[in-house]
Amino acid sequence: MAIVGIVAGGKGSRMGADMPKQFLDLCGEPVIIHTIKRFVSNENISSIIVGINLDWYDYMDKLNNQYFGGRIHLTRGGSDRNGTISNIIKYARDRLNVGEDEILITHDAVRPFVNQRMIDESIAAMEYCDICTAALPAIDTIVMSEDRTTVSEFPSRENIFRVQTPQTFRLGSFMCMLRSVTPQERQKITDACKLFYINKKKVYLIKGEEMNIKLTYPSDFEMAKVFLHHNA
Ligand code: CTP
Repeated sequence: MAIVGIVAGGKGSRMGADMPKQFLDLCGEPVIIHTIKRFVSNENISSIIVGINLDWYDYMDKLNNQYFGGRIHLTRGGSDRNGTISNIIKYARDRLNVGEDEILITHDAVRPFVNQRMIDESIAAMEYCDICTAALPAIDTIVMSEDRTTVSEFPSRENIFRVQTPQTFRLGSFMCMLRSVTPQERQKITDACKLFYINKKKVYLIKGEEMNIKLTYPSDFEMAKVFLHHNA
């Protein structure tokens, strides 16, 4: 069994909408509702905690009552993504009384197409690793550009991956990693995987999905609508 932490504390500035992108309508339901439903339907999940910006707490509370009868736990988001994860962990410890070895699956509120295979494989990976992330091989050729104008390096494409979520680890290990970095380092590390990586932990890759997109720009919503119609 595992608990889920949905990170939903962001503002969605690149989307340029009048509300954070996780609340925008996607074919009749807010994005975050699509995302949460994917986890509600998995029998290996014991609780779901959403980390939300305080300005949107009441709004999310209403959605929680409307769609899930208030069964989803809500806590406040942090100033960065890892801060939101910390708050989710604090909530799990204090309010749900879970132990340090509990598995926590963290997932972006704005990736509504996570599937059951990815969830199950994330949990299974905790038998052999400290942290795993969904990822896919790069499709395009990726280049480095130090001056942002000319190419400085051609990394070998077969070794380049695109990182998605879920990212999964045990509750206590994340806090341990976070304590070991300086405040300056912490500001630069927005990703849980990077936090484990700089602490010299092996970050394992599980297979992501092309459909598991992160809604970032308005055009991503057009693609998401196509995916939903295709699977209806
Ligand atoms: N997130 C979070 N807490 C923060 C910042 C981000 O929980 N302080 C979450 C977002 O809500 C989102 C996920 O992390 O579900 C991925 O982040 P991103 O796509 O960058 O979302 P935003 O920060 O909202 O977008 P933008 O960078 O365009 O403002």
